Amino acid sequence: MKMLLANAEAWPGFETTVEHLKQGGAGIDAMVAGIGKVEREAKVRSVGYGGWPNMLGEMEFDAGVMDGSTRQVGAVGAVPATLPVAALAREVMQHLPHVMLTGAGARRFATERGFAVDEVLHPDSRRVWWERLQKEMTSAQRAAFPTIPLAPLSHAITDPERVRDTTVFLGRDAGDHIGVVTSTSGWAWKYPGRLGDSPIPGAGFYADSRYGAAACTHTGEMTMRCGTARSIVLAMRLGRTLDDAVKLAAEELSELKGGFLAGVVIHAIDAAGHHRVVNFRCDEEIRYWYWDERMAAPELRVAGAIHC
Ligand code: GLY
Repeated sequence: MKMLLANAEAWPGFETTVEHLKQGGAGIDAMVAGIGKVEREAKVRSVGYGGWPNMLGEMEFDAGVMDGSTRQVGAVGAVPATLPVAALAREVMQHLPHVMLTGAGARRFATERGFAVDEVLHPDSRRVWWERLQKEMTSAQRAAFPTIPLAPLSHAITDPERVRDTTVFLGRDAGDHIGVVTSTSGWAWKYPGRLGDSPIPGAGFYADSRYGAAACTHTGEMTMRCGTARSIVLAMRLGRTLDDAVKLAAEELSELKGGFLAGVVIHAIDAAGHHRVVNFRCDEEIRYWYWDERMAAPELRVAGAIHC
C-alpha cells in the first residue's frame, strides 16, 4: 500500500510527494521533491530558507536520505549556501562511495553536482538572530563579537519557538519500497558545526523495507544518544509490534540522565501499513500529515503523548 507520513511543517511539499506516489514514482524521489518545496518555503521556520542561523548568524543545513530496500544512505551536515539539501544527500548516496559529507566538503560536492550557491539567510531570521544575541551579550562581548567564546552563550540562548524541529518524510511506494528523508536548519543559535540527528542514520532516521521506518524531530541531542530510529526498526525485526517498538524507544529516551533533555517526536511506520506518531515530553500540541492510497486527501492529525 502506498503511504506517506510527515510532520506538520511538511505542508508545502506533502501533496507534491503524494502526487508523485499516486503516479507510481519512486518513494525517495517523491519525498526529495516534496521536501525541496519545504526547504524553499520561508514560512517554515525550522527548515531551509525559513530556518534559523547558528550563533555566528550563518545557516548550516543537515539532511539525510535512506532507501530501505538497499539500506543505502546519503547524508550531509552543516552545509552552507545550499537550499535543496535533501537532494544533495541523495546525490551523496547515488554518486559517492561515502555516506556523509559535512561543511565545506559538502558544498564543494554540491557545486560539482551542479547545485547553485543559494541565498539562505532570510532577512527576518538575521534580525531576530542579532536581537536575541545582543540581549545575552555584555557590552564587552558585543564589542569583540564574533571573536569571543561562544560556548557560554549556547547555554543561554535557545530557539525562539522553543523547538528544534525538522522536516521528516516516511513513505512507501508502489513497489513496496520504504524510505525516509529528513531536512533541517537545526537548533537556532547552535554552536557552529553542530550536527543534529537529522543527518545521523540510526538516530534521526532509519528505514528497512522489510520491517518499517522511523524518523525523529525536536531534540536530536537525545535521539543521537539512544539511536532511536534504529532501535525502533530493530525492535520490529525482533518481533515487536510497531506500538511496542515505539514504546521501547520512548522508554530509552526516558532513561537518559544528564546532558540536554527536552522533547522528542517519533514518527514511525511498519511494513504492514500501520503508522504511529508520538509526542515525548513536548509542551506544544504535535500534529502530523498522513496519507495512504485508500484516502481521497491527506489529513492533518494530532499525535498522542507517550508517558513512561
Ligand atoms: N531534530 C533536529 C535537530 O536536533 O537538529
